[in-house]
Amino acid sequence: ANVTLKFPDNFLWGGATAANQIEGAFDEGGKGLSVDDVIERIKPEDRKKLHLPFPTSKEVKDALADEENRHFPKRYGIDFYHRYKEDIALFKELGFKTFRISIAWTRIFPNGVEEEPNEAGLAYYDDLLDELRKNGIEPIVTLSHYEMPLHLSLEYGGWKNRVVVDHFTRYARTVLERYKGKVKYWITFNEINSILMSPFISGGMLRDKVEEGKLLEATFQAAHHQLVASAKAVEACHEINPEAQIGCMVLGMINYPDSPHPEDVHAALTDQRKTFFFTDVQARGHYPAYMNRFFKEHDIELDIHPEDEHTLKNNLVDFVSLSYYMSTVSARPETAGEQAVGNILTNLKNPYLEASDWGWQIDPVGLRTLLNMFYERYEKPLFIVENGLGAFDKVEEDGSIHDDYRIDYLKKHIEQMKEAIADGVELIGYTAWGPIDLVSFSTSEMSKRYGFIYVDLDDEGNGTLNRSKKDSFYWYQRVIGSNGEEL
Ligand code: BG6
Repeated sequence: ANVTLKFPDNFLWGGATAANQIEGAFDEGGKGLSVDDVIERIKPEDRKKLHLPFPTSKEVKDALADEENRHFPKRYGIDFYHRYKEDIALFKELGFKTFRISIAWTRIFPNGVEEEPNEAGLAYYDDLLDELRKNGIEPIVTLSHYEMPLHLSLEYGGWKNRVVVDHFTRYARTVLERYKGKVKYWITFNEINSILMSPFISGGMLRDKVEEGKLLEATFQAAHHQLVASAKAVEACHEINPEAQIGCMVLGMINYPDSPHPEDVHAALTDQRKTFFFTDVQARGHYPAYMNRFFKEHDIELDIHPEDEHTLKNNLVDFVSLSYYMSTVSARPETAGEQAVGNILTNLKNPYLEASDWGWQIDPVGLRTLLNMFYERYEKPLFIVENGLGAFDKVEEDGSIHDDYRIDYLKKHIEQMKEAIADGVELIGYTAWGPIDLVSFSTSEMSKRYGFIYVDLDDEGNGTLNRSKKDSFYWYQRVIGSNGEEL
């Protein structure tokens, strides 16, 4: 018999963003500086090299001392801080059931170490959450989306220092408590596995504060602290509001073997664990056995406190959320070339796939496979909280934007979600990344656009900031309106 392909009735359609990529207003409302506020745009010729900054303390301080000559795009975002009402009205018009934001930690605890929260920051998110509710949009809130206070990085070297766990927990408890009547879906750390390739933005780590030759150990120590902090946030959430649900979030990566050579297949399994390690801990509550050998072989000795085992075990996430953009290929060392140990993303070519202008290999079927892998492993609800195509858009003379490439990308991924649901996967929602154009995480460019809504702003920060609808706006509106029937 034919299988019916359809989405459940209460499926949460929407879009996803992060404070540091949209809000701007970096020095308003008592906000402190975060690690993102010292990131400059990547050179256009480096677009395809995934090279995330890992500065020394001196480089950060030099950047701060030279502020007026530098451009830090994430300080300005797309001015969502002031324009959120206008933007939410557009999301409502799109038919959004849900909208994912993050709270900028630095609006609540500007340096991360204060005893008392900053009321102006708390009030801002009250207003924003109320506005979403008023428009019938269910918020999903990420506690940490690359936004750690810069002070915690400069003072303590970021997440590798255990003190950060307590500072984070105070922040998490503050907002979980404050917004308990307003938020039902929480996410702890955005792409928690990204720390393996992005020690500064994801972990606040600084090059000079890591002992020579010890980067991998320091990174896993920082990851351990984030995992413990994530479990403490889960504990707080369940205690404060038993009705709420809180999930983990990973950069959803599927690693294919370069060939059927058994060593390539094994290399793919090993790389796959760079994603699964993080979800294994958060969804199963303990370090998986395969990490023991990995730690031994890389001379990694972690400082794990006796109570951590208990904390991890007793505070499992309610759902597993993921981003998904592309798949990658893994190969045995002889063919893999220079792929650094610990890097999540490999850059081997998959001859069967096309890539975006930024070199990301587009693979809708990989999403179906990955969803199945996650669901079989955890049997917990899954939530796709990011997916989309970063592309150059052309504004026509009449102002229209014909982004059929984006529609094509999203359509093919949504089709595969339907297949996965038919396979038995429990998928609760889908939030497309960057429903409104925003500053890119990895390159800090504006020209890498994901939106259904165009923002008139260029890479240098010039533009009217006016919003306009792309063709994909009307398409996604139909998709949501038909609950995924009309693609
Ligand atoms: C994810 C992040 O890595 O992918 C987002 O959670 C990010 O913050 C998105 O923006 C797309 O990446 P980029 O580098 O194209 O902005």
